[in-house]
Amino acid sequence: MTTRTSRAPLAAVVLAAGQGTRMKSRIAKVLHQLAGKPLAWFPIRAALEAGASPVVVVVGHQAEAVEAALRAALPGAPLRFAVQAEQRGTAHAVLAARTALRGVTGPIAILSGDTPLLSAATLLRVVKARARAQAPLAFATMNLAEPRGYGRVLRGEGGTPAGIVEEKDASEAQRAIGEVNAGLYCGDAGFLWRALARVGSGNAQGEFYLTDLVALAAKREPAVAVEVDPLEASGVNDLEELARSGRVLQRRRASALMKAGVTLEDPDRFLCDEEVEIAADVVIEPDVRLRGATRIGAGCRLGQGSILADAVLAEGVTVKPYTVIEGPATVGARSVLGPFSRIRPGSELAEGVHLGNFVETKKTRIGKGSKANHLAYLGDAVIGAGVNVGCGTITCNYDGEQKHQTRIGDGAFIGSDSILVAPVEIGAGAYTAAGSTITEPVPAGALALGRAKQVNKEGWARRLEVERAARRAAGKAKG
Ligand code: UD1
Ligand code: CA
Repeated sequence: MTTRTSRAPLAAVVLAAGQGTRMKSRIAKVLHQLAGKPLAWFPIRAALEAGASPVVVVVGHQAEAVEAALRAALPGAPLRFAVQAEQRGTAHAVLAARTALRGVTGPIAILSGDTPLLSAATLLRVVKARARAQAPLAFATMNLAEPRGYGRVLRGEGGTPAGIVEEKDASEAQRAIGEVNAGLYCGDAGFLWRALARVGSGNAQGEFYLTDLVALAAKREPAVAVEVDPLEASGVNDLEELARSGRVLQRRRASALMKAGVTLEDPDRFLCDEEVEIAADVVIEPDVRLRGATRIGAGCRLGQGSILADAVLAEGVTVKPYTVIEGPATVGARSVLGPFSRIRPGSELAEGVHLGNFVETKKTRIGKGSKANHLAYLGDAVIGAGVNVGCGTITCNYDGEQKHQTRIGDGAFIGSDSILVAPVEIGAGAYTAAGSTITEPVPAGALALGRAKQVNKEGWARRLEVERAARRAAGKAKG
């Protein structure tokens, strides 16, 4: 994230105290996730990118959880939290931020915690429009064919904004107005605190409406209305709107990635968290999902249906379809994974490692060029370079109480279906015979055989046949 501090001073308030009743969820609205971040993270980021400092977040419903989630998602940001214990309206919410804004004398932007699509550029347009007009207040409006649910903008004789009327308080004629309040404001600190003290709650909802500021400003110097893109200002009030906003975010991200040299075979079938970084010349097949702090190096190919979380891939890695990485995990350059590999936390794969279908790794380090191409479980292991792990190999890392380590030296050859009972060490260049259960250390360069010796009974099948024929003949004789 880029925060610019070179601009004129600006503070911001983000309103996030409401429960979000229409979400029909036990989780506070602003904690619902989009692209791996809580909903309120997006408008806060827009404020930070616009250079606002401090950004005061007004919390109320599930205040502690909301504050913890936002602090964790924005480490080091100039955030302050103010509690609005009872949600008595948007004006009441801004007043709750007053102490946290002590000493702020310049402009204060006010945003809603439920508008994830708002950009810093649009916020700055509102901020600048107020400064240019030297008005006490500027606010964003949009023109909608279907204005239902929004506050309608009332214009005075000269066409200047005279007030906002909420839908529940509006007359039929007012409801027909298509110009609505987008819920984004910038006010001069002096005006804000003076005017907020005069807002009453004599309306249909018995709430203190922030929207009353427009009429209060009009008494002296009218507010400036700034028309914005309705998509950017659209709020999330229910889970369908959350999903719709999520789709817009994903489409924006996909388009930015494609412009930066990433091939998306189907941009509508790609999901990517906010923090993910993808280098140029990466090819991404359909239905890939990238989560958390995943970083994809140049020239990687991500196969269909792969899910990568907190995975760091160096250059030129090939991830074949339906591979799952649950990081933290690192994958060295030109490694080849999948199809159907599962890489679990603490896996560190060096350059040119090959892991094939149904190979699972966990807390395991694998050296350069080593291979496990089919059906294996490699847990709590340190595997050297140039090792070949045969099909069906299992590290028995757990004795029912504790986890133990398996160590395999460079160039070792682990025969198919080897059972490596940890703690155990296999020396460099050693071999284990297929089907061995290895419980003792194997010296470097040795062959370990840990299986029952094979016994062949010559002519056994012929004798069986003769015996059976004799039994059948005896049976017939009786009948
Ligand atoms: C509000 C506006 C409306 C505008 C619309 C744009 C008011 C009275 N109405 O309506 O004119 O068209 O936004 O989206 O402002 N909040 C608090 N504390 C409270 C009440 C609300 O923090 O006591 C927060 C909510 O968590 C939310 C934001 O303020 O993030 C807006 O509240 P919401 O109830 O969604 O307002 P709308 O009905 O959408
Ligand atoms: Ca809303």
